[in-house]
Amino acid sequence: MTTRKESAGGAGSPPESRYRLDVHHGGAAYEDALAADALTGLTGPVKSLPPKYFYDADGSALFDRITTLPEYYLTRTEERIVKAMASRWMAEIRPAELVELGAGTCAKIRWLMDARNGASAPQRLLFLPFDVDARTMDGAVRGLLRDYAFLAVHGIIGDFQRDLSRVPAPGARRLAVFFGSTLGNLHPNERARVLQDLRGILRSGDCFLLGVDLVKDTGTLEAAYNDSAGVTAAFNRNILAVLNRHLGSDFDQAAYAHEAFYDRERSRIEMHLRPMTPQEVHIPRLGGLTVTVTPDETIWTESSYKFTREGVGEMLSAAGLPLVDWQTDTDGMFAMALARRD
Ligand code: SAH
Ligand code: AVI
Repeated sequence: MTTRKESAGGAGSPPESRYRLDVHHGGAAYEDALAADALTGLTGPVKSLPPKYFYDADGSALFDRITTLPEYYLTRTEERIVKAMASRWMAEIRPAELVELGAGTCAKIRWLMDARNGASAPQRLLFLPFDVDARTMDGAVRGLLRDYAFLAVHGIIGDFQRDLSRVPAPGARRLAVFFGSTLGNLHPNERARVLQDLRGILRSGDCFLLGVDLVKDTGTLEAAYNDSAGVTAAFNRNILAVLNRHLGSDFDQAAYAHEAFYDRERSRIEMHLRPMTPQEVHIPRLGGLTVTVTPDETIWTESSYKFTREGVGEMLSAAGLPLVDWQTDTDGMFAMALARRD
């Protein structure tokens, strides 16, 4: 583990003194995990790569562009719900600590911080952003520290499927947040494990706010993952650039077509990369492995599950995080689920 620590000062102290960053998943640890996952994923009967490898600095920037696309209704709908509810939730929960999984550019946590900022004399708030992409998080945190004097930040670079136990135990009332339906990028068994680990970093009575994209008509869903500007396609192909950089492989991004479709039976969008001509890929960091990918197969890069209120309630109850509030937009596109640890 590489750890960089900067001491956390009191409210009103200079930004640097209120910032600490722990890296549990960088450098060699990240590359070893990527190598192991790529080996498993590219040599199995169905070729696949885990979606967490989309997110280097370029991938996070592409995702940020996706959130502004006309077809990608998720972000602006979530924003409407959270901004309408933020003051009430923050006043009722009164968190002294905010943990955010998959914090990315930390744009959304500002919606909660702004609501709290409305209080006449905001008390110190400890923000614990958790993400796999160090560069994006570090830049975002520096902006937050400049803008919110009441904030101290303890950032954690890790994989939320492995490293959640590294989040320090709560010292005061904690609210964990998982925006954007990122939980839906995990399969049901993976989600159950993450929620169980998340429960472990909350105390009884602490809350969990979860954004989920809802089941809806196929046309709306498929348009959101096949935007006309081609940004989602570039995001999808970026996973090959990440492999090339870290594993020395020679994937030709331009040789792969982006595919995304809705599987109604499994309630999920699937994203794939399909080569337009047969590809022979060499991967030096996997012992010189050669992988052949033909146009009658794909590399499956992401699932994005869509939810119902009933399914979310069951999933959260099973994790010991029963639902206490459920808010949707008027068209029922997206929902925020608030749960309280029992
Ligand atoms: N919360 C933001 C960003 C969503 S994009 C929003 O809602 O708009 C998904 C984020 O989760 C990215 O920042 C990505 O780096 C992070 N992420 C994806 N898989 C991860 C994992 N396994 N562990 C930690 N972070 C992960
Ligand atoms: C981060 N995650 C919730 C996005 C989603 O909608 O599943 C990632 C994404 N993939 C394609 N477009 C956006």
